[in-house]
Amino acid sequence: MADAIRFFELNTGAKIPSVGLGTWQSEPGVVADAVVTAIKAAYRHIDCARIYENEKEIGDTLKKLFEDGIVKREDLWITSKLWNTDHVPEDVPVALNKTLEDLQLDYVDLYLMHWPVRMKKGSAGYKPENLEKADVASTWKAMEALYDSGKARAIGVSNFSTKKLADLLAIARVPPAVVQVECHPGWQQGKLHEFCKSKGVHLTGYSPLSSPGTSWVTGNVLTHPVIIDISEKLGKTPAQVALRWGLQMGHSILPKSTNETRIKQNFDVFDWSIPEDLFAKFSEIEQASKACQGCFIYS
Ligand code: A2P
Repeated sequence: MADAIRFFELNTGAKIPSVGLGTWQSEPGVVADAVVTAIKAAYRHIDCARIYENEKEIGDTLKKLFEDGIVKREDLWITSKLWNTDHVPEDVPVALNKTLEDLQLDYVDLYLMHWPVRMKKGSAGYKPENLEKADVASTWKAMEALYDSGKARAIGVSNFSTKKLADLLAIARVPPAVVQVECHPGWQQGKLHEFCKSKGVHLTGYSPLSSPGTSWVTGNVLTHPVIIDISEKLGKTPAQVALRWGLQMGHSILPKSTNETRIKQNFDVFDWSIPEDLFAKFSEIEQASKACQGCFIYS
């Protein structure tokens, strides 16, 4: 009998649902339907961010789902992220308040520093002239205050390297509960995975399918011969195999889809598993396709 792996326990004691709906690149206009479809298909975890520019629409959708009795707030896990332009400590609570207003919520289950990169307040785009010297320690103190206030029930970071996470753990009063990074069979994050395990930080993988629809991404794990071979042996799709690998590694995963069939398919990963002999084959996959390479240098 396969281990269902529905939740992972964080260092706060909270249980994060292991499969969440990713909403990066989900256009306003379609993200509402995706959230409704996912929640009706039993997803209980939605991954959001201010910079995705769709939190308002997600908030309207959640409000309606609550009003219609489809799901209760306390049964959902909502993550959001602090954008790089809001790293100055006094801007941090303002940014969370704006996210809560847009999502129409009193709290988020998890609030993440989106990048260890500071950008000028109000600036847009990743131009060098918008970058400022990062001061993770001072931003983290402001994140800790949000945790103390209860508006963020857990706090963490995203796109941090092992070194940056270690530096943060050395100074944190409230240790990060989660590090969210790109993670899939073509970018397995071996070093960070081991470090997180040793420190009790949970790893969440974004782009768990290697973002095959993103034009500037090279390498698609869904067409990799090892994944195809395993999917044929198990009678599952390549996407399901990539997702189940993440769960069996102990990572929560955030597949993005706005397509009903694929949203359902991506949640059908609990009542079967990849046997050990096939799981060992993931080590043969060359580590080369990093979807977010070039956004920021963070390793
Ligand atoms: P779509 O939204 O049309 O389903 P990632 O989560 O790694 O960023 O990948 C998201 C991309 O993968 C999107 O282009 C999404 O397209 C596509 N996708 C999502 N689920 C599946 C699936 N089960 N099979 C193939 N492609 C998928």
